[in-house]
Amino acid sequence: MKRRLVKQSDPSSAARDVQRSARAQRKEGTRPRWWLKGGLLALFVVFMLFSLKVLPELIQHFVSTHRVRLPFFVDLSQPADLALNHTINMYLTSEEGISLGIWHTVPESQWKEAQGKDLAWYENALNDRNPVFIYLHGNTGTRAAPHRVGVAKVLSALGYHVLVPDYRGFGDSTGEPTEAGLTTDALYLYNWVKVRCGNSLVVIWGHSLGTGVATNTAVKLIEQGVVFDGIILENAFNSIRQNISANPFSWYYWKFPGMEYFFPEPWAKNKVAFPTEENLKKIRSPILFLHTEDDHLVPIQFAHKLYEAAVIAQNAERVKMVPFDGSLGYLHNGIYRDPHLPDIIKKFVMSL
Ligand SMILES: *[C@@H]1O[C@H](CO)[C@@H](O)[C@H](O)[C@H]1NC(C)=O
Ligand SMILES: *[C@@H]1O[C@H](CO)[C@@H](O)[C@H](O)[C@H]1NC(C)=O
Repeated sequence: MKRRLVKQSDPSSAARDVQRSARAQRKEGTRPRWWLKGGLLALFVVFMLFSLKVLPELIQHFVSTHRVRLPFFVDLSQPADLALNHTINMYLTSEEGISLGIWHTVPESQWKEAQGKDLAWYENALNDRNPVFIYLHGNTGTRAAPHRVGVAKVLSALGYHVLVPDYRGFGDSTGEPTEAGLTTDALYLYNWVKVRCGNSLVVIWGHSLGTGVATNTAVKLIEQGVVFDGIILENAFNSIRQNISANPFSWYYWKFPGMEYFFPEPWAKNKVAFPTEENLKKIRSPILFLHTEDDHLVPIQFAHKLYEAAVIAQNAERVKMVPFDGSLGYLHNGIYRDPHLPDIIKKFVMSL
């Protein structure tokens, strides 16, 4: 009986206990939570001050973009992992102590034949009369970045060879990047290809930072009496050393936080020139500019300016400009996704 009573009273008292303890918890809870909020706010303020003052320097110090291996977890020695099953990975020594990691993709029509083939087979294949593209990539990441693989696929499907190097200091290539060093690397690869490809067309495709390397290389070759068969400049930027007051867009280079995007951290800023506009005045190769109207890193006005300089130096027959509508959303890297791109490239190659 007693036990039953106790039992009966238990639920109600337990419920009261629960209510009471909940109230107590709410009461107690308010204090720590208030403190927590205040503490977090203070921390946030400190963090913001810290960020504004110190963080950019820290980031610049620790993140040298060319060393960031994007995409992560990609084995650069296994290009077949990225569905480029007719690609070989190789290393060339562009200068004493500088080893460059390079992918060579043969025309897609040869993919079956290419299975299990060695370096010698790929090297011989360069002599099959199909045009050869050397793709000079932009800053950050490696030759495995999706938009670079995307361009290689487009070119390979068109029946061209594609060689994509990681410059010194990029990807698994050794050395530190410098403007002169990148140019030497591109020049070396061009000469390496020329010795092996017979009379095939060799076209240089530069993207972003690679456009600066491409025109530097073209000028170096001109000094040796050699002219590129064709040059494609995708989302090209102008020299950063231009007269600031004379260029309405120069603010962009100095204020935009992406400044480091173009120029790897070890490069002393004032030693980087990439005088693309000056280079274009000397270049005598057919040029195709490709530029996205929604490029958030290099406004298309830069390309217009470069295009005009090139047309003055040559003529409108030899220099073309293809803009891509901003509504397509390609931004700085996405041109490879354009369904018209193969036709545009094919037309350019046929004109060479
Ligand atoms: C190899 O690549 C080609 C071209 O991209 C593709 O058509 C083919 O299906 C691939 N083969 C294999 C076995 O993955
Ligand atoms: C820069 O441009 C301004 C205005 O066009 C001109 O007055 C100045 O002399 C230029 N400076 C240099 C170093 O070219």
